[in-house]
Amino acid sequence: MAKHKKIPRHIAIIMDGNGRWAKERNLPRREGHRAGAEAVQAAIEACSELKVDFLTLYAFSSENWNRPKMEVRALMGLLEQFLKDKTPELQQRNVRLQAIGRLTDLPSGPLEQLHKAIEATRENNGLNLILALSYGAREEIIDGVKSVMRHINDGHLDPGMLDPEIFSKHLYTRYYPDPDLLIRTSGEMRISNFLLWQISYAELFITKKLWPDFNKDDLHKAVTDYANRDRRYGGI
Ligand code: IPE
Ligand code: IPE
Ligand code: MG
Repeated sequence: MAKHKKIPRHIAIIMDGNGRWAKERNLPRREGHRAGAEAVQAAIEACSELKVDFLTLYAFSSENWNRPKMEVRALMGLLEQFLKDKTPELQQRNVRLQAIGRLTDLPSGPLEQLHKAIEATRENNGLNLILALSYGAREEIIDGVKSVMRHINDGHLDPGMLDPEIFSKHLYTRYYPDPDLLIRTSGEMRISNFLLWQISYAELFITKKLWPDFNKDDLHKAVTDYANRDRRYGGI
């Protein structure tokens, strides 16, 4: 693999296209999700090897609760299984697992596994793997506004002092830098309520590949593409 001169510190991925992957094979959608869960492995490995610090994966959106009950149940089952099966490997790779979203919306099975995996990997200092679960950016911003208001009411914050940096500290992502690179698979040209605040200046990489087919090479391609971007932040 070529050595990249500029490695993004934080990569965020909208893992889309599991349903279409299954449809192409005349399989039920849940088989697409199963294959999608397997593809997560390659992304973790590639990011660990490239020494990316943060990888945020959009695994389940606030809006995904509106899918048929059977599909939601399948996704929650797969999440629980994934956390159970993968924790030893995360340990071995020195990956620290974290999560963002309205986590208390999750059923008790996957929620318990999530807490266990977070606890088990707490001391790891390699890649930070952040799962976005029951995550919606507008919900996050509203929760952030509520948090700011509490701080103002408690006398901990002068409203005149509020600025983007302080507001960032009231978001689910307060401990993480903003994503440098946002990848979306399956060709859809939209953000779908993901990290709206944090991606202000992220570089976008959209590929037609469906998520279950997204492999290490694809991730390397995205990173190489990123390395050749000129990030100007409004400057010249
Ligand atoms: C992404 O794949 C997985 C989740 C949203 C949970 P989709 O299930 O959205 O796949 P498509 O978009 O229908 O192909
Ligand atoms: C975005 O994909 C959410 C996840 C990948 C978890 P969706 O398939 O839900 O998004 P839309 O419906 O195409 O916007
Ligand atoms: Mg989709």
